[in-house]
Amino acid sequence: MKNQLPVAIVTGASSGIGLGMLLALLKADYCVVGTSRTISASSDLKNLSNLKLVDGDAGKKETAVAVSRTAIENYGRIDLLVNNAGMFLPKPFTEYTENDFELMIATNVASFSFMTQQVLGPMQKQKEGHVVSIVTTLVNQPIRGIPAALPVLTKSTMAATSKELAIEFAQDNIRFNTISPGTVRTPMHADGNIEELSKLSPLGRIAEISEIVDAMFYLQGAKFVTGENLHVDGGAHAGRW
Ligand SMILES: NC(=O)c1ccc[n+]([C@@H]2O[C@H](COP(=O)([O-])OP(=O)(O)OC[C@H]3O[C@@H](n4cnc5c(N)ncnc54)[C@H](OP(=O)(O)O)[C@@H]3O)[C@@H](O)[C@H]2O)c1
Repeated sequence: MKNQLPVAIVTGASSGIGLGMLLALLKADYCVVGTSRTISASSDLKNLSNLKLVDGDAGKKETAVAVSRTAIENYGRIDLLVNNAGMFLPKPFTEYTENDFELMIATNVASFSFMTQQVLGPMQKQKEGHVVSIVTTLVNQPIRGIPAALPVLTKSTMAATSKELAIEFAQDNIRFNTISPGTVRTPMHADGNIEELSKLSPLGRIAEISEIVDAMFYLQGAKFVTGENLHVDGGAHAGRW
């Protein structure tokens, strides 16, 4: 099928940052495939044009295959993948269970790997493409009082592997970048104390979803930027405050 519009895939697109990305990409005239375990039930996303929804667990290869196939069969190409699906499970390190490890590795590491593998074939044929993955600023700047070794263990692999892939696929003109947010106002923090969370950034507030979306559009337009990790964290990665 011939399609003149750019095409994006967004994982974890039913809520929070992913939903913000999906809606902003549609507004910017992208065709979008959005995926999450329950996305087809989302009332926000009913009957929107240039949008296809795929339900599935991001940790399973079969979901990545279905999502990529949906993009190609409906829109003919894949210009941008946003690896956003992810979990945050803060706990003292010694309390993480075997189940926690399996869940976090599937959701944060396997999802990044399987989905990225599936888009590379089409992007190599196009000789162009871009993969943006959502990490966390805690990878570069852990914070006392927020024990998050397992999120850091799983998310740091995304940042490091993106740099590796930026080198491996540069000859195909495929770029890899990551965004490291501080705390963002999403349903993930629905029960959070915003006043306390605001103290986790030198600028003294949490981020809005639109600020993460802006970072993604900056990277998407910055054709000479690859292997970059863009912090959107009010300066938290810069040092002590
Ligand atoms: N919010 C923050 O402060 C913050 C800070 C740093 C990094 N991040 C990262 O940003 C990303 C988005 O966070 P958010 O705050 O927007 O989260 P959110 O509002 O809780 O949304 C999470 C999304 O991921 C999907 N998801 C979760 N597990 C999944 C799985 N196994 N398979 C498929 N989809 C799955 C959820 O949909 P379903 O339930 O339908 O599957 C939902 O669409 C995450 O990777 C998170 O680690 C967030």
